[in-house]
Amino acid sequence: MQPVLDYLKQNQDRFVAELCDYLRFASVSAQPPHKPDLLACAEWLVAHCRKIGLDARVCATEGHPIVVAKTRREKNSSRPHFMVYGHYDVQPPEPLDLWTTPPFEPRLEGRNLFARGSTDNKGQNFAHLKAVEAYLQTGTPLPCDLTFVIEGEEEVGSKSLSGFLKENRKELACAAVVISDTGMPDVTHPALTYALRGIIAFEITLHGPARDLHSGIFGGTVENPAMALAQLLAKVRDGQGRIKIPGFYDGVAPLSKYEREQIERYPLSDAKLKKLLGVKELFGERGFTATEQRSSRPTFEINGLTSGYQGEGSKTIVPAWARAKITCRLVPDQKPARIRKIVCDWLKENCPPTVRMEITAGHGAEAYLVSPKSAPAQAALRALEKAFNRSPILMREGGSIPIVNEFKQILGADSLLLGLGLPDDNAHSPNEKFNLDCFEKGQRMSAHLWQELAGIV
Ligand code: BES
Ligand code: MN
Repeated sequence: MQPVLDYLKQNQDRFVAELCDYLRFASVSAQPPHKPDLLACAEWLVAHCRKIGLDARVCATEGHPIVVAKTRREKNSSRPHFMVYGHYDVQPPEPLDLWTTPPFEPRLEGRNLFARGSTDNKGQNFAHLKAVEAYLQTGTPLPCDLTFVIEGEEEVGSKSLSGFLKENRKELACAAVVISDTGMPDVTHPALTYALRGIIAFEITLHGPARDLHSGIFGGTVENPAMALAQLLAKVRDGQGRIKIPGFYDGVAPLSKYEREQIERYPLSDAKLKKLLGVKELFGERGFTATEQRSSRPTFEINGLTSGYQGEGSKTIVPAWARAKITCRLVPDQKPARIRKIVCDWLKENCPPTVRMEITAGHGAEAYLVSPKSAPAQAALRALEKAFNRSPILMREGGSIPIVNEFKQILGADSLLLGLGLPDDNAHSPNEKFNLDCFEKGQRMSAHLWQELAGIV
């Protein structure tokens, strides 16, 4: 192991330069004009994987390609097999004017590397590639076989990956999936995430008059769809932060005493959180701490609200329609289909007769929960402790990685979520960054992980 750790130590500058090359691809999966950038990024990744000694290929899909890279298989080897999952696609960088320097021109400032995709997810996933490189380049035998699956559609719902998993079920069968695409509280606190929230997405449109109307001539005599939507949405939540839709909390598994104790160890005070988020006051469901609220409680969130005239100056109209983009984050054991139904039925029942409601369904995924006491989880905790020299905390994360459910259903494998992102990394926001201490310690964690995991399978 020592040669592996030494190799990592000696090559950090080159690793950062390589990560910068990776970050220069504008692999924005949501925006069709960037399709060639996704392909170029996937091809760069394959070339890089080959250079470090992996067998790698680009797998075309109906959407963006999937990169598969494997350690060379030894004949008749009985080494256990693990998968490392990540994504090379990134969120749109807009609004561009809020970036200090352009999103696809990586900039190093102290120990922070700024670029779109740096923490989510190129940098985090790259740490695992560098750990394998260290094994391969120092001739240190890996105690297991590894397959990297790095997709290009995570930020748009992983549409192609589930089919790919089914088609390649045999090749991808593994004892566990390792994912670094979540967070940790700060550089000195390593964490194992044992739960993720699920999600349902949909759009509501309220249709009013056949066209935008003069608000002086007709205002006061027809329903204003924007007002109707505002009043409808306002009824969803009470003053204590609880969702009033009947049945919304049915089946929500209560937190055990053990879990509440673990969650309490999360080292972020309300005062720090307020500052980080730039709010005067925190607001959430009464009876739960902030960490509980954003990790283990379901939400109804308005992601976008549009109606009427949005341009400069004023325009006196009654708009023809109003629209809201909604997501609900779900927790164990809420079933996405049931929540979607009760929420949509409730919205329809509460819609005034003066407007017509249209609901379009978006993506959905169940929450994810594995026992932090399982043998693989315990192995991961040991690897984290070795790399960070500190006892890791256990956490539930509020974000979603829908594909983990399919790793379980299709491949029968649990996911180990070993996040390297920090709360102030600005994932999905302007000036996204990745901390190089997290990068380096993440590589060491990965190097230790294969020893720890292979030992228990
Ligand atoms: N890496 C995130 C998920 C994440 C972030 C989980 C932080 C836990 C903590 C991932 O890339 C992501 O953003 N997922 C989306 C999924 C959605 C598009 C279905 C999310 O959570 O909004
Ligand atoms: Mn993301």
